[in-house]
Amino acid sequence: MVGLTEPLIRVRGPPIPAAADGTLGGMTVLELVNVSKSFGEGPAAVTALDQVTLSVGPGAMVAVMGPSGAGKSTLLTLAGGLEEPDEGEVRVGGAPLSLLSRNDRARLRRRVIGYVFQDYNLLPGLTAAENVSLPLELDGVPARKARAAGTAALERLGLAGRAGHYPDQLSGGERQRVSIARAVVGERRLLLADEPSGALDSASAEAVMDLIRAACDRGVAAVVVTHDPHLAARASRVVAIRDGHLVSQARHQAVTRSEMPAWEDR
Ligand SMILES: Nc1ncnc2c1ncn2[C@@H]1O[C@H](COP(=O)(O)OP(=O)(O)O)[C@@H](O)[C@H]1O
Ligand SMILES: [Mg+2]
Repeated sequence: MVGLTEPLIRVRGPPIPAAADGTLGGMTVLELVNVSKSFGEGPAAVTALDQVTLSVGPGAMVAVMGPSGAGKSTLLTLAGGLEEPDEGEVRVGGAPLSLLSRNDRARLRRRVIGYVFQDYNLLPGLTAAENVSLPLELDGVPARKARAAGTAALERLGLAGRAGHYPDQLSGGERQRVSIARAVVGERRLLLADEPSGALDSASAEAVMDLIRAACDRGVAAVVVTHDPHLAARASRVVAIRDGHLVSQARHQAVTRSEMPAWEDR
């Protein structure tokens, strides 16, 4: 269990106000409050997210579903501090990202947030172990210690025997597990995964979901974009998004099969 009672990060400035739902800053890992984001200008402008509010606590796994172009990736990108909203506020560990310096935001992305990209994003010239330990090394952890943490993360994911392999020597499922190991190595508190099982067969997809669940059971908060109702059913909450709006925050029991086909975009 990660130390969830400590503040995730410290920021200078005034105390962080309580969120609308009464949760005190610091108790919730991720909060989006009335977040909007558009791309382009004038008549060509596209509203990717429109007044989205979402709160994810420690140990929660939120599945995000919706058709192509609904704003799912934009939601993750803003949550991960990779882009800034036009309006509204994103808080991680209670800290409004807009109040952090560029350096603090970069540090937050390295230490607190794990991002799983759909196409894995492994560096081809590095072994599995080197890919996993890289974020720690970038963060100043001595190489030997970083490598040990990387190897331990790979072992937890059943990849001990693949530590010295390069990405092109791994199967798609193994590559995805390496990218998840990289996202959870160290003491990450927030896992953001964009269709992590999109390219996998059902057994590998199930294994990926097991790993994300295991991280949540350790107290990590996760937001997982998925098209697979079977996988979404394993989340603690399902959020549907359509044209940039959150249209429901149903518990998975409330999600009906008949709604699913419309959400598929593949
Ligand atoms: N960098 C960008 N530049 C222009 N338009 C973008 C950009 N990113 C996303 N969009 C647009 O915003 C909308 C939401 O995109 P996205 O969040 O990628 O949807 P999803 O992941 O649900 O398929 C789409 O209409 C998309 O074309
Ligand atoms: Mg997307």
